[in-house]
Amino acid sequence: MRALRNLFKKNREWANKAIEADPDFFTRLSQEQNPEYLWIGCSDSRVPANEIVDLSPGKLFVHRNIANLVIHTDLNCLSVIQYAVDVLNIKHIIVCGHYGCGGIKAAMDKREHGLIDNWLRNIKDVYRYHQVQIDSLTDKKEKYDLLCELNVLEQVSNVCHTTIVQNAWKSGKKLAVHGWIYRIEDGILKDLNVCITNRDEISRIHRMK
Ligand code: CO
Repeated sequence: MRALRNLFKKNREWANKAIEADPDFFTRLSQEQNPEYLWIGCSDSRVPANEIVDLSPGKLFVHRNIANLVIHTDLNCLSVIQYAVDVLNIKHIIVCGHYGCGGIKAAMDKREHGLIDNWLRNIKDVYRYHQVQIDSLTDKKEKYDLLCELNVLEQVSNVCHTTIVQNAWKSGKKLAVHGWIYRIEDGILKDLNVCITNRDEISRIHRMK
């Protein structure tokens, strides 16, 4: 017996609706994908990438993990970035965090959470880099919001420091890396006003010749 029958039913309805609106939709999609954007976001079920920016299948290449982290040794994330940049020739990489992120919250407390603490440790590092700024705030919620934002900025830097992105810029490819944050309470995206488009904008320490 097939479990989760309701999801298969929903899938049929969704596919039928898409065909009704555009009979060639799936045929066209099956031939190629040509997305302009790579989305690196949080796994949180309330932050669904395509829906937030109202893009249909084929328009957004997506990588999601807890707290939208870009770790230098994460082959999964790096492979996504490489494929997106080198093969799909995407023009924009969007790192999108969100306020109220459970991963950020867990990284701010002192409790043990199991295996995931090894992942969250990267967020604790972000806290440490910006400790003076964060601890200058007294309101707990403000601190939390600020770390959610700073974490996005840090991950934007991590994307830019990869050999993949630096080599793309070196070869003359047009590629912009953006930092955004989403508010679950109202569904609105905020641009954190970072948009890195070339190697001169990254830290000297990470910049390769
Ligand atoms: Co989250």
